[in-house]
Amino acid sequence: MDIKVRIGNIGKTRADTILLGIFEDIKKLSGDLAGMDKLLDGEVARLIKQGEIKGKLSEVTVIHSLGKLPASRMAILGLGKSKELTPDKIRIALADACRALRKKGAKHIETALVGVGLNDITVETSAQAITEGAILGLYTFTRHLSKKSEQGEITGITIIDRNLKNKTALARGVHTGVVLAEAANLSRDMVNEPPNYMTPTIMAEEARQVAAKHGLEIEVLEREQMKELGMGAMLGVAQGSKESPKFIVLRYHGKNTKAIDIALVGKGITFDSGGISLKPSENMGDMKSDMSGGAAVIAAMGAIAQLKPKVNVIAIVAATENLPSGTALKPADILTAMNGKTIEIISTDAEGRLTLADALGYANKEGAKKIVDIATLTGACEVALGNVATGAFTNNQKLLDKVIAAGKEAGDKMWQLPMFDEYKEQNKSDVADLKNTGGRKGGAITAALFVGEFAEKTPWVHLDIAGTALLDSPKGYYNKGATGVPTRSLIKLVLSLPKK
Ligand code: BES
Ligand code: MN
Ligand code: ZN
Repeated sequence: MDIKVRIGNIGKTRADTILLGIFEDIKKLSGDLAGMDKLLDGEVARLIKQGEIKGKLSEVTVIHSLGKLPASRMAILGLGKSKELTPDKIRIALADACRALRKKGAKHIETALVGVGLNDITVETSAQAITEGAILGLYTFTRHLSKKSEQGEITGITIIDRNLKNKTALARGVHTGVVLAEAANLSRDMVNEPPNYMTPTIMAEEARQVAAKHGLEIEVLEREQMKELGMGAMLGVAQGSKESPKFIVLRYHGKNTKAIDIALVGKGITFDSGGISLKPSENMGDMKSDMSGGAAVIAAMGAIAQLKPKVNVIAIVAATENLPSGTALKPADILTAMNGKTIEIISTDAEGRLTLADALGYANKEGAKKIVDIATLTGACEVALGNVATGAFTNNQKLLDKVIAAGKEAGDKMWQLPMFDEYKEQNKSDVADLKNTGGRKGGAITAALFVGEFAEKTPWVHLDIAGTALLDSPKGYYNKGATGVPTRSLIKLVLSLPKK
């Protein structure tokens, strides 16, 4: 889909559908809407009076123009209460509106900016939010359908404004919005792929394509090289599968120093059956999404390379399947991670933290100054926070505050959980330095504490996206299936780093 910017009068456009916003609390028509109402002989005012148009967030009312406007119809989009409008609400409303209009056969939508001047919303933020909402909302995953669906496609959206002075800000907002939303959609694509189409090898290939397209450095370590580096924890997980594990490293250099300002580490289990500690079969297929963290960091790197912040970033994904077999890891095995720590295996289903142990070990060996890891790590986190918020953990409050702020901008909700020392008792083993599970109680926290052992002294944030990576039903600009969380937050985080 193509998003364009145009300086002109929305009342004169011939698009099949024009879109204008309305607030719940401002019913007196003004500006473009008043102009359209006049051309439509007062139809908008009439519908407001009759109560069909209330202005509630995401309410869409379609008015056929019957030749009174050059456009064949006008859609009026509710934006809720004007004082409560945020960029995130603009994204939600646009996503809902675009989906509703697609159902009605819209092909090309021309829309006016919404909310400019309210609650610090600028021309640029409005254009960006409209762009993100439209691209995220219209996302579909259809590549394995042999027949094209009946549903048509919206091929273009034009944001139109009368003021020539706004042109650069509009273009900037659209550009950033496109990069952010397309990155999120790329990560959705990777997660939605069935696991036979998203093996570690294919995931590495995907990373290679992102690197080639946007000029990133890439290195993919094979089993042998992982052995040389002493990645016993990662290899322990990988030993049950015939698929070759891949240790994927992407590098972005935004400035002329060697130092790595931040490492983004994503969990890359392309299918988590649980291994010998086999999961129940019900919904096991959802575990194709166990590489969501990895998909998010690969996609984010592509966007970072396009937006070019002055930061050096490395992304790491230790990609493997977790399967049972005659060669698989067993409960009671003891593994040695890259940093020398030994781990007693209690459950082979607690595999994510094992792969992260070596991914963080690698980040530290590379000298990363900060680490953020993203992982579908625990069912316990989904139980605690549901499908609404990502669990957040840290050894450095300042860094987490930045991550949460970036999440807030992106609309990805994050909620901090504690890391009190008392919980560490649960990870103690009699026969090794650590156990790989700390039992059911506080499962998201003990998992985070385990991962923290491998961050060591480096400022680190852990995001548990077990509840937020995948949804059963669409919600706002999230679709059913992969959400792409927290791809856009990671990009915004990296963009915020040079500002100090
Ligand atoms: N990938 C799962 C966690 C998960 C569960 C993600 C549900 C998304 C939705 C992880 O590898 C896992 O199996 N965790 C175990 C840990 C337990 C064995 C300590 C869990 O949460 O049950
Ligand atoms: Mn597991
Ligand atoms: Zn897992």
